Amino acid sequence: MPSVLPEGEPVPRDGALPPHATFGGGAAHRPLGFYLHVPYCATRCGYCDFNTYTATELRGSGGALASRENYADALIDEIRLARKVLGDDPRQVETVFVGGGTPTLLPAADLVRMLRALREEFGLAPGAEVTTEANPESVDPAYLAELREGGFTRMSFGMQSARPHVLKVLDRTHTPGRPEACVAEARAAGFAHVNLDLIYGTPGESDDDWRASLDAAIGAGPDHVSAYALIVEDGTRLASRIRRGEVPMTDDDEHADRYLIADERLSAAGYSWYEVSNWATADAARCRHNELYWTGADWWGAGPGAHSHVGGVRWWNVKHPGAYAQALAESRTPGAGREILTAEDRRVERILLELRLAAGCPLDILTGAGAAAAARAVADGLLAAAPYAEGRAVLTLRGRLLADAVVRDLTD
Ligand SMILES: C[S@@+](CC[C@H](N)C(=O)[O-])C[C@H]1O[C@@H](n2cnc3c(N)ncnc32)[C@H](O)[C@@H]1O
Ligand code: SF4
Repeated sequence: MPSVLPEGEPVPRDGALPPHATFGGGAAHRPLGFYLHVPYCATRCGYCDFNTYTATELRGSGGALASRENYADALIDEIRLARKVLGDDPRQVETVFVGGGTPTLLPAADLVRMLRALREEFGLAPGAEVTTEANPESVDPAYLAELREGGFTRMSFGMQSARPHVLKVLDRTHTPGRPEACVAEARAAGFAHVNLDLIYGTPGESDDDWRASLDAAIGAGPDHVSAYALIVEDGTRLASRIRRGEVPMTDDDEHADRYLIADERLSAAGYSWYEVSNWATADAARCRHNELYWTGADWWGAGPGAHSHVGGVRWWNVKHPGAYAQALAESRTPGAGREILTAEDRRVERILLELRLAAGCPLDILTGAGAAAAARAVADGLLAAAPYAEGRAVLTLRGRLLADAVVRDLTD
């Protein structure tokens, strides 16, 4: 979720959706998920551009309403608003993802309370996936046990690296080894599904550092690994340090090498890629919530700066936790703007998202120019020949390295 909000038309004060987007308008067959954003961190990592605030950043802005202590109540107010806006939509919630920021800076009881509100207002579908992100230093066995008892089914830990000097450049506050211990603690608490997030391409990281991080992650036995190339976001402390020459700029060729190392190591250990940056040990270990984003399902994003997509309407909330809580306290939507997607917007979005999946995207949604680009991509070894012959565009390993460019060509 980028921290800069797009332009758009205003959201009605009560948050109402246009009739075509509501359940009666045909939403019935799409699964419904909830993203719950928690916009607080103990300290800000120098590379991070997410909509999150430290206590120092919040001091003097937004007043008591912006505080962590009241946050769960404000978020529950938005869940109740969602119930009103979705009216008699009978769908139960298939997936819940609590993300941040650092959700685990809140007491476990607050996260469980938010989940309870979803259960009361919508009901959770049988076998629903309920994930929370967590920073490794912010949980202990008792905390994890409380989440598990409260209905959480999946933990996602921000490991990033196993090397102390890499963690230092990233401003991470956990010690090497702590994320691996978190996996064991989560398993002991009864979590069948555990993810570790890794970052590659940090200034000063060598190929061997990256191999060591992958080996440490794999050795901990999560059933899911996400590996992201470090993005140097404008306006971050990392971007300033690179500009001042304090740390070297990251390099695209190096990123490609690291990706190949990741795919090779993870595949050898029994993890299969199912999205360009995501690997899982089995279909059941995939993140169903992210799959719901990638396949154009409906999701309600609650919390400051969160984005939602229901029935072809996309909207986004005000960014600041104080403004967010204020809107809900006044029984107003926290929605800051929205756009109603056209059929062409949705077609392009399908290509953007589905092409990054191992299942690929159907060729019959491409235009003439896109289809010609797909034929060239097969000849160049960027799309796989066998699925192409069956009508699907699926990236090869080389295609995954150049995914952004291939996607751009196919959306022509
Ligand atoms: C927003 S964080 C939230 C999770 C948690 N606060 C943490 O940091 O462990 C989600 C994940 O996004 C990834 N991430 C954040 N900023 C990134 C960047 N600039 N480049 C690449 N990955 C990034 C990190 O791997 C991180 O674990
Ligand atoms: S802890 Fe996570 S959300 Fe917070 S600043 Fe660091 S990467 Fe961003």
